Amino acid sequence: MSGPAGPGRLLIRDLEQLATPRGSGAPLRGPALGDVEVIEDAFLLTDGDRIAGMGRMTDLRPLDGDVEELDGRGRCAVPGLVDCHTHACFGGDRVEEFALRAAGASYEELHAAGGGILSTVLATREAGEAGLREAVGRHHVWMLRAGTTTFESKSGYGLDLETELVSLRVIAEEGGIPTWLGAHAVPPEFGDADAYLDFALREVLPQAAELAEAADVFLERGAFDAAQARRYLEACRDAGLALRLHGDQFTEAGAIPLAIELGARSVDHLEAMGDGGVRALARSGVVGVLLPASALFLDRPMPPARALVDACAAVAVATDFNPGSAFCASLPLVCSLAATQLHLSPAEALAAVTVNAAHVVGRAGRNGRLAPGYDADIVLLDAPDWRYLAYHLGGPVVAETIVAGVPTRLG
Ligand code: NIG
Ligand code: FE
Repeated sequence: MSGPAGPGRLLIRDLEQLATPRGSGAPLRGPALGDVEVIEDAFLLTDGDRIAGMGRMTDLRPLDGDVEELDGRGRCAVPGLVDCHTHACFGGDRVEEFALRAAGASYEELHAAGGGILSTVLATREAGEAGLREAVGRHHVWMLRAGTTTFESKSGYGLDLETELVSLRVIAEEGGIPTWLGAHAVPPEFGDADAYLDFALREVLPQAAELAEAADVFLERGAFDAAQARRYLEACRDAGLALRLHGDQFTEAGAIPLAIELGARSVDHLEAMGDGGVRALARSGVVGVLLPASALFLDRPMPPARALVDACAAVAVATDFNPGSAFCASLPLVCSLAATQLHLSPAEALAAVTVNAAHVVGRAGRNGRLAPGYDADIVLLDAPDWRYLAYHLGGPVVAETIVAGVPTRLG
């Protein structure tokens, strides 16, 4: 007996434009980062969960058999967006803290006073498995509505054995790519960071390594220092996990040299990085993940994105969606910030949220491009020009998100 029928063929016809990062490599850097192929008056054909063909309408040949058709008039197609840095698994919210920050309190002060990340740790422990599943599911719908078809999410708000493992499991069950952020903060039941890491590496890592694809650490004043981050990351690498770092968010504390030495996939944030960091990152294979919504939300300086791109560093851009520093699940909004605040071209921003982000989450060659054989993850923009992705600041720019060949019809 055969199982339920999967997606069939879908023909999206009469698109105003189809736009995709060109070529086949990843990550893109230098001039290749801004090299977008644009096909005017285009069609896109999917077969099952893969892209089967694309081109100009004048080159479309009659198709035999069953094909569902979608009208692309007034629409542009771009690859499904890839959010390579989120913290989508949390209980509660931080709206009170948001109001306090609006009145002048700083993020670091609130963190030092036991608020901030630690207040979300308490709410996450209280939420339980069902509450966390409901939360990640709700956040996933927000992302799909905004055109995100692939998302990474970190744990890091449990910081005990049970809640970290539940977080990683729930993220995967809700379709995310789980990263173990076991070194996010020192939870209240531990006196110091080293004692907490003893516990996390001995008790949590063996099972976390079975559930997660990568590990991440918050290397920062008031969180974990470079020696502690090295210890955590080396143990995670030895357990088979890819490595990521939160680094240079508020201070330069050694994240970039450590990321390069350990062959990390990425170092993320970088608002405080200096010229030496730019030069070092540009010479390396580590991707700099830029999070302009977080800088905006905390009223912090933007990372030196233009200098990084001009120095030929590989960069990706992501939301950093989380309850404290970036309550924003929209990559189109982040593309607007990339263009207006980071001074990336719309083409560079597109590559940064598609092909380069796919590389950061280990999905290069499968996600982040419109090309035959890639996953049929597609965003249809309600726009006559694909650059509206960045141009339409905060607007309803996503008309339809297609995942694995199936329109989500979320509206
Ligand atoms: O990437 N900086 C560390 N972690 C998160 C914020 C987490 C929070 O404030 O809850 C970030 O910005
Ligand atoms: Fe983050």
